[in-house]
Amino acid sequence: MISEAENEFLTRVGPGTPAGDLLRRYWQPVAVTADLSPDKRTKRIRVLGEDLVLYLTDENTYALVAESCAHRRVSLYYGFVEGCEIRCPYHGWKYDSTGQCVEQPFEQENRRARERARIAGYPVRAYRGIVFAYMGPGEPPVLPQWDVLDRRDGHLTLFVEKDLRCNWLQPMENAVDTVHTFWLHGHTMHVKGIDRGSYYYRPIEKYSFEQFEWGIIKRRVYRDTTGAVEEETGHPLVFPNILRLPEGPLQAMHWRVPVDDEHTMLIRAGLRPDKPGEERVHDEEPSVVRLPSEMTADGDHAMDTFTSQDRMAWETQGAVYDRTKEMLGAEDKGIAMYRRLLRQQIELVQAGADPMALIRDPDRAKVTFDVSQGQARVAVAEGRV
Ligand code: FES
Ligand SMILES: [Fe+2]
Repeated sequence: MISEAENEFLTRVGPGTPAGDLLRRYWQPVAVTADLSPDKRTKRIRVLGEDLVLYLTDENTYALVAESCAHRRVSLYYGFVEGCEIRCPYHGWKYDSTGQCVEQPFEQENRRARERARIAGYPVRAYRGIVFAYMGPGEPPVLPQWDVLDRRDGHLTLFVEKDLRCNWLQPMENAVDTVHTFWLHGHTMHVKGIDRGSYYYRPIEKYSFEQFEWGIIKRRVYRDTTGAVEEETGHPLVFPNILRLPEGPLQAMHWRVPVDDEHTMLIRAGLRPDKPGEERVHDEEPSVVRLPSEMTADGDHAMDTFTSQDRMAWETQGAVYDRTKEMLGAEDKGIAMYRRLLRQQIELVQAGADPMALIRDPDRAKVTFDVSQGQARVAVAEGRV
């Protein structure tokens, strides 16, 4: 249980909020490149409580600016893309990719006034089919080349789920909730007669958590029906809002990006490595799968997949889970550790320092997590881009 003030401190994401300021220090995925094309040049996106328009420039790059024009607040979603700039559809004010107004066709030439007409504009980078944005102050850090995205020895698929109808911290706390897998996944699959949950339907004998340079490592020890013991590590929470895990044959990364306080964007990347002897040449652009809603016609969670089961748990905690009413136990050690870490890192940002897991040195841009099911070690390697 935490106080109401602490709950607000950790969950709110709008401009100027403590957690919002922390999350803005990291490159965040905000769209997939497949969302835009020469026929569809603009996309409305809401990230960290800000309404923005992403557009595809004539140079095939991306730009991200505030949705509302500085003049009379009309949406730039309907704007005209001209070169790397965007022109408002109402009276033609034009903005560059930093959000600076560069033209006001019906105004007297007045440079001062034009310079004051400024909307938000954020740096964006397209990498392996994902558009990443940096919404923080100062020089952006190096864009991490996570192994799942960077590897070319397998097929990469991006999965875009329906936005989650709850605060971002709920899925992230779940990333350090190691024992939920027995009942929520193992047992639910068992009672529904689905065999996909058997891995998790084994008694968990021990579990522990350890902070490391990139976030939190979890350890879990299973005892199976024959009495054999299996120690497992391999689902690190990568600070602040990523889960890295093996997912069947896939090496996966899940981003949970706040849309606003009560909604969260879910983007997953899954790399299916080639089998030895079956190496293939893969397209540079990954395939994109847009996952359908997993709600039944009655509006219930279908509960027959891992994603539906997790979504049920996160959404039924409430739009912004009220942590003043919970009863944490020993099983929630990982959650308490993550909240402590989050507070610590927010305070670092407030003191003007860089938080953890932020890359400033290009020599450290390539980050490889060697994780697999049933493996008792997370090996991290770093290298130059
Ligand atoms: S509202 Fe955009 S130019 Fe007038
Ligand atoms: Fe889960």
